[in-house]
Amino acid sequence: MPAHSSTKLAAPRRLLAAFNCRRYPSFRSAFVTVAPSRAPSRLDLFSRHLAPKPPFLELNTPFSTERSARLVDDQGNIIKPRSPPEPKATPKTAIEAEPPAKMSNQAPHPALLIPGPIEFDDAVLQSMSHYSESHVGQPFVNTFSEVLTNLRKLFLSTDPAAQPFVISGSGTLGWDQVAANLAEPGDQVLVLHTGYFADSFADCFETYGVKATQLKAPIGDRPQLDEIEAALKENKYKIMTVTHVDTSTGVLSEIKALSELVHRVSPETLVVVDGVCSVGSEEIRFDEWKLDVVLTASQKGIGCPAGLSILMVSGRAIERFKARKTRPTSYFGSWKNWLPIMQNYEARKASYFATPSPQLIHALDTALKNILARPVDQYWAAHTATSQKVKKAVADFGLKQLASKPENQANGMTAIYLPEGIAPPDVIPSLLKKGVIFAGGLHKEIASKYIRFGHMGVSVTDPNRPDITKAIEALKESLTEVGYKA
Ligand SMILES: Cc1ncc(COP(=O)(O)O)c(C=O)c1O
Repeated sequence: MPAHSSTKLAAPRRLLAAFNCRRYPSFRSAFVTVAPSRAPSRLDLFSRHLAPKPPFLELNTPFSTERSARLVDDQGNIIKPRSPPEPKATPKTAIEAEPPAKMSNQAPHPALLIPGPIEFDDAVLQSMSHYSESHVGQPFVNTFSEVLTNLRKLFLSTDPAAQPFVISGSGTLGWDQVAANLAEPGDQVLVLHTGYFADSFADCFETYGVKATQLKAPIGDRPQLDEIEAALKENKYKIMTVTHVDTSTGVLSEIKALSELVHRVSPETLVVVDGVCSVGSEEIRFDEWKLDVVLTASQKGIGCPAGLSILMVSGRAIERFKARKTRPTSYFGSWKNWLPIMQNYEARKASYFATPSPQLIHALDTALKNILARPVDQYWAAHTATSQKVKKAVADFGLKQLASKPENQANGMTAIYLPEGIAPPDVIPSLLKKGVIFAGGLHKEIASKYIRFGHMGVSVTDPNRPDITKAIEALKESLTEVGYKA
C-alpha cells in the first residue's frame, strides 16, 4: 500500500484529503481510497475561502498563446485544432524539419514575423554585449546623448522645446506617462478606438482617475473625421489619443488629418499618438503635423530588443505638464523626475534618477544609427513596398484583411482573415515547421478567425533575408495542407 494511502493518514489529514478530493478532483488520484461524501460537510461551511474561485482578474488577452490557446467560436463552442496529417516518417522539430537559410550570425531560429518583437540585426544584438560601465560615467552619458539626438531625427523634430524621453519599460509605460503627467484626476480625454489597444489605453487613463470616452469604429475600420469633429465639439477634452497602427487589427489611422482637425476644432486638446506599432514603419512628421506626444517602444519598427519606453513630447505638452495643479500621479513615470535627467543626458551631463539599462541604450543607439544611415523616408518606403507585396499575395490567394480599405492598412503588419472553418491553431504550428512565426488574432470578438503577419525592420530592409518571401510561401503551403483552395 502506498505510503500516502488514506488508512495511514492521521485524522486531520484524512479530513483534509477528503475535502481536497471534492474540491480538486485531480487530488483524488493520489488518495484513491477516500470516498467523497455527498452532503456538504461542516468543513465546506468553514472553508469556503479555500474553494476554487474564478480568477481574481480575467486575462485581457483572449488569444494569449499562439499555439496552445483554446479557441471559442461565436456560439461559445471550443474550436479544436484539426488533426495534423499522419506523419510519414519520424517527426522532426521545426528547426530540424527545415533549417532556415542563414539570415545572420545568430543561432538558427525560425523567422519571428509577429507584429513585434521583430527580428534583430546582428549589430544591434552585439551592442548588447557591451562591457559593464557606469550609468553616470561620461562614455555612457555620451551614448545616451546621441540616442536622444537621433530620436529627434527619427521623429523629424527640430523644435528645441520638444523633448525625447527614453525610460526603462515597455510601450505600456508610455500610456502611464501620458496619463500621469498630462492629465489630472477628473479630466476628460477622448480615445479613438480601432481595436484592442485603445481599450487598454482608456483603462490606463481610468486607473489615474481620468475619464476616458472612446469613439469606436467597426472592426477593421477607424472613426471617421466628421464623427471625431462632432465628438470634439460636444465636449472639452484635455487629450485626444489615437493608435497609429492598432496591432490587433492592422488598422492604420490618419495622423496628419486628425491633428489638423484637432488644431482647428479644439485647439486646446493635446494630440497623443500611440506609435508602438508604427514608429519606424509609418510616416510620422512630429513638428510638421503638430503632434504633442508620440509614444513608442523599442521592440517593433525601431528594431531593438524590448525594454525601453520611448516618447517624443512637444514643447506645448511640456508647458502643459509644468502648469499642472496637482502632482504627477506616478513616481517612476513622473516627468518631474525624468525631464531634468533627459535634458542633462542630452547635454552630456551625468545625472541620476533611476538606473537606466546601458546595454539596451547601446542597442537602441545602434538601431537608430542603422535607420538613420539613410533618409528616414527611405526606411518608411521599404516598409510600404514590402507591405504592398504581402497584401497583394494575400489578395491573390483569395484571403481578406481585417482592414478592408487600402487607406486603412498598416505598412508594418497585415491582419489576415483565415478561410471559413480554419482557425489559427490549424496553421500556426505548420508555419512554425516551415521556419516562420506568425501571431494569432488578438481582437476579442474575432480572435479565432485571423492571424497576424508582422513585416518590420531588418526582415524588410535587409535584401539578404528571405523572411518575407519565405513567409508568404509558408502561409500558402500551410493553408493548402489543411484543405484550402485559393
Ligand atoms: C499599439 C500598441 N500600443 C501599446 C502596446 C503595449 O506595448 P508593450 O507591450 O511594449 O507594453 C502595444 C504592444 O504590442 C501596441 O501594439
